[in-house]
Amino acid sequence: MSGTLHLVELREGGAQDLASVNTIMLDAFDAKYGEAWTSAQCLGMLSLPGVWLVIASVDGQDAGFALARVVADETELLLLATRPAARRRGVAGALLRAVIDEARGRGVVRVHLEVRSGNDAVRLYRREGFEKVGERREYYRGRSGQLFDAHTYARNID
Ligand SMILES: CC(C)(COP(=O)(O)OP(=O)(O)OC[C@H]1O[C@@H](n2cnc3c(N)ncnc32)[C@H](O)[C@@H]1OP(=O)(O)O)[C@@H](O)C(=O)NCCC(=O)NCCS
Repeated sequence: MSGTLHLVELREGGAQDLASVNTIMLDAFDAKYGEAWTSAQCLGMLSLPGVWLVIASVDGQDAGFALARVVADETELLLLATRPAARRRGVAGALLRAVIDEARGRGVVRVHLEVRSGNDAVRLYRREGFEKVGERREYYRGRSGQLFDAHTYARNID
């Protein structure tokens, strides 16, 4: 609803949020591209050291999440998603900045991510200072077996 202000709140997530994450995942990612993760993949990743989850809610309802991992002084943004009904209200931007702030606090100097070629998310990443640093051909396998290239983006953290 244009012109309406919506309250976006962020909180750190945990294993108790994975059902909600899965709901958002199924709603947000188009299965034809093969970018979404299963619940088991999310649980496995979340149990590893250095992995954290941020949940965004809009007007009290979970609407988006980010999953990230820190290894030494680098962070990888693993997943970022907003439910279609809550898009273009700054949810993903807020999640991305929260990941960068948390990474900075953990002493990280560089953040990496992979995104499907042609994904609208690239506009957000560029706006937040990410630059393209590489390509991975046929990285994603979609529902019908079609393969999609990934582009790697990165930015430094001051
Ligand atoms: C990409 C995605 C996370 C954006 O979520 P969002 O909460 O709508 O993003 P924001 O409202 O924070 O948008 C920030 C900026 O990104 C850009 N953007 C986001 N969606 C866009 C779209 N569909 N078309 C063009 N630009 C877009 C815009 O520059 C936007 O700023 P603006 O609204 O002021 O123009 C969401 O569309 C999504 O969940 N997509 C499916 C999952 C996915 O592909 N995730 C990224 C790869 S892991």
